[in-house]
Amino acid sequence: MNLIIHPDAATAANAVAAMMAQALAAQPRLVLGLATGGTVEPVYARLVERHRQHNLDFSRCRTFNLDEYVGLPAQHRNSYRHFMNERLFLQVNLELANTHLPDGLAPDLSAECVRYERQITAAGGIDLQLLGIGQNGHIGFNEPGAELDSRTHVQTLSATTRAQNSRLFAAPDQMPAQAITMGLGTIRDCRQCLLLATGREKAGIIRQTLTSAPTPAIPATVLHEHPDCTVILDTAAASQLEGLQLPGVALLTNLRK
Ligand code: GLP
Repeated sequence: MNLIIHPDAATAANAVAAMMAQALAAQPRLVLGLATGGTVEPVYARLVERHRQHNLDFSRCRTFNLDEYVGLPAQHRNSYRHFMNERLFLQVNLELANTHLPDGLAPDLSAECVRYERQITAAGGIDLQLLGIGQNGHIGFNEPGAELDSRTHVQTLSATTRAQNSRLFAAPDQMPAQAITMGLGTIRDCRQCLLLATGREKAGIIRQTLTSAPTPAIPATVLHEHPDCTVILDTAAASQLEGLQLPGVALLTNLRK
């Protein structure tokens, strides 16, 4: 696992956008794995800028999002389809038919999970997966306890996640209790992973993730088993790493001033 620490959140997000843009320019048919959440919003803003100012071309790119709430229609302002359409898909020259999220309204959710896995496989697998991290260590919506080799599945959301995300809903009780998420095994199969975490509220879980061996108790620790994973932080998210031994973690650049 590689680690890069940037001086602030904006620089970290810009660096992630640059890595994604470079991969897309090198491989126009890139299969991108995408994430939602406040942390990655500035990444999408930078990618939209690169499309508008430097003609970054998404026309042949395929995308697969990590997760979607169960029970929310696509047009619901809190659905991840809505988030992605607004922040990225409708702002660049992506073909909407090439953008994929699990269907949280599918009548048979188990069948939908199988279908989503097959779609990823049929696309040749995910080349580059963008990840955020929840305060309990979830990636996608793989909550503590999720099996490290799990595939796309229906996940009941934990109390921590409900508390963290319900503030984004008009009424907190509108937040669904379940989501469909790529599994930890699905994420581990992606050819490259970039995990972005910024802000002091992520410092504790980043310390735990980077110092722990892979364990279902901290889902993000599965990334230690990944052959090409880079964790990109700002100094606030890295603030509990000072002086720690981080076995298996290579500090690539330390831009701290
Ligand atoms: C949601 C998503 C996760 C994301 C997390 C972090 O729970 N399912 O994929 O990592 O939010 O959100 P934020 O970046 O807003 O802290």
